[in-house]
Amino acid sequence: MPDAPLTDLQMKQAAERFGTPLYAYSAAELDAALSRVQAAFGDARIWYAMKANPNLTLLRRMQSAGVGFECVSLGELARAVKVEADGDHLLVNGPAKSDEEYRLGGDLGATFIVDRLGEVALLPPASRVLVRVNPGLSVSTHDHLATGAAHSKFGVRPDQLPDVLAALRSGGHTLRGLHLHVGSAIRDAGDFAAAFARVAELHTLTGPLEVLDVGGGWGLGADLHGIAARAKEAAASFGAVLWVEPGRYLVAQAGVLLTRVMGHKQTGRDFTLLDAGMTELLRPMLYGAAHPVQALWEGEATTSDLAGPACESGDLLGHDVTLPAGAVRGDLLALLEAGAYGAAMSSTYLTRPRPAEVLWDGTQWVTMRRRETAEDIWAAEV
Ligand code: LLP
Repeated sequence: MPDAPLTDLQMKQAAERFGTPLYAYSAAELDAALSRVQAAFGDARIWYAMKANPNLTLLRRMQSAGVGFECVSLGELARAVKVEADGDHLLVNGPAKSDEEYRLGGDLGATFIVDRLGEVALLPPASRVLVRVNPGLSVSTHDHLATGAAHSKFGVRPDQLPDVLAALRSGGHTLRGLHLHVGSAIRDAGDFAAAFARVAELHTLTGPLEVLDVGGGWGLGADLHGIAARAKEAAASFGAVLWVEPGRYLVAQAGVLLTRVMGHKQTGRDFTLLDAGMTELLRPMLYGAAHPVQALWEGEATTSDLAGPACESGDLLGHDVTLPAGAVRGDLLALLEAGAYGAAMSSTYLTRPRPAEVLWDGTQWVTMRRRETAEDIWAAEV
């Protein structure tokens, strides 16, 4: 099991002070993750895919380390504006961009990632552009997390690329380079190598380029140095600089979801009932994701399913999880590797206010987001 980024005592104190469910993050692990990426990718430019966790505190930390932002919605662009990111630090991406996204991205001077031929006519005048390529490759991850397969909705097929390049030229736009992102939570470096090699072949169509952006998608524990070596080779075949867009890798291990035991029951299965579930951490339900669990009580090992408070049978955070026996109501449990796509995908279903988010900065707890209230949830209702 991976180590929690915070000590048991820190997690207990945070839960005591801020209540549960609670997202707690370690600044030291955030810094360590960024350092690991920098060590592997050298002078490649890093763009944080803010969808992984768009909290303004995290954005400001990334920004002060020189990291840019990949944005995929008007709201994400608004966050970038809020932290005063400039156009040279902004990528605007997405398969179905709105008029407002083109306008704001254009006003800011962002670089657009073009996802289809029809988009070229929608770009603001004289846009700077990367073209996303769909390499038509299957990768080893959950089907919902694969984005570069022939049947996925993303990118331009290699045979469509000449038309897109011609349209960009005649439209007066600047082609900066190609973009690729084959999926998320991919641990097999061979999947990346195959995708990068396929895109590298396209240099015969494009000629030299300023940039090759190979996206993100690195699963926790993936061989970053191996992935980086293949990415650098692919960039070199265009004479291009390398850009990367990690989301999960930069924030996942820094965050834990703290939840308290509400009770215990047996039906056909053995359940440990928690005060967090699908509304706080959707990934187990949506992708079958297995987040490592650290229980903060003592006892003989036993196994149990982890069930949330929602009135949905799929509201489970773990199957056959090994836990110390004898938990009592109020005992604390941490779901690890929850810093990415945890808080970001939490919902207010069942009028459950979303959790607070707090950061241990090395000397003190900083509140990154206060706990929502029921009033916050209905504030927009008229
Ligand atoms: N670049 C592009 C174009 C992307 O679409 C994504 C993620 C990333 C970068 C960052 O990928 P990462 O390094 O985080 O794997 N909700 C899912 C993950 C969806 C990722 C979508 N795109 C989850 O909880 O696993």
